[in-house]
Amino acid sequence: MKVITTKTELQELILQLKKQQQSIGFVPTMGYLHEGHRALLKEARDQNEIVILSVFVNPLQFGPNEDLDSYPRDIEHDKQTAIEEEVDYLFLPSSEEMYPSAPSVTVQVQRRADVLCGRSRPGHFDGVATVLTKLFHLIQPDNVYFGKKDAQQVAVVAGLIEDFHFPIKLNAVQTVREEDGLAKSSRNVKLSPEERKEAGILYQTLSIARQELIKGNHDLKELKRQLKDRIETNTSGKVDYLEILTYPELEEPSVWEGSFIIAGAVCFLSARLIDNIIFEL
Ligand code: PAJ
Repeated sequence: MKVITTKTELQELILQLKKQQQSIGFVPTMGYLHEGHRALLKEARDQNEIVILSVFVNPLQFGPNEDLDSYPRDIEHDKQTAIEEEVDYLFLPSSEEMYPSAPSVTVQVQRRADVLCGRSRPGHFDGVATVLTKLFHLIQPDNVYFGKKDAQQVAVVAGLIEDFHFPIKLNAVQTVREEDGLAKSSRNVKLSPEERKEAGILYQTLSIARQELIKGNHDLKELKRQLKDRIETNTSGKVDYLEILTYPELEEPSVWEGSFIIAGAVCFLSARLIDNIIFEL
């Protein structure tokens, strides 16, 4: 595996790969790689001649009071994981390489960004869309891989690819979970042992909500109140949001037929965890 740190070197490489008509699968990440990232890399490996992984903690998608500085990092572990998953190229730029000066142009997400994480983290999806636009231009992948754990991100990226005419296929990969249902996340290491024990309740609660909706319980206000209550009485966390929306539009349901998302975010003392279930009715 080759590590690339500069845009110039990356652009030269991509020129060569394009000349050779090699298909490129791209997995963007912020590192501290775990089984969830591995699932994306495996799918990319299966479906492309060349696999490129990026590890970049993107400052633009963190708010002023968020965990940019304490976001977990372990580059040696990430390199080892990338080698194990047979990644061909690891793009590892510095912040100065990605943002040499204050941006003169950024991308603004117009739809699907005013609910869920977009509402709690103003500007977050603009930061995601901006860095992905830069990475997509640099890497020109045929396939990109995103996790359904961040289902709103998948919906936003689908809009970015469509609206900006990127000739890229978006592949959404199933969420990888711990045994108690907790979605694997780089932020899980920040939980105290006690919080870690409690954290499985989020997914269990989302699963109960799905069962209720399947049974025909459509009293959303009461259902959401009960779910929030269940999380807050059984954990030390505070519910940031708990929503039931259509997917991928992320709108309030008006008919009970089609694709829906039950999404939740819970703030523990040192980490905010998100999860969701997407299902059909
Ligand atoms: P990061 O949180 O590192 O996640 C990188 C990719 O891994 C995302 O597509 C995410 O949905 C996926 N992922 C994380 N946990 C997963 C799990 N348990 N199962 C399956 N997939 C999982 O998401 C980002 O980085 C950034 O916003 C990024 C897209 C890189 C832009 O900066």
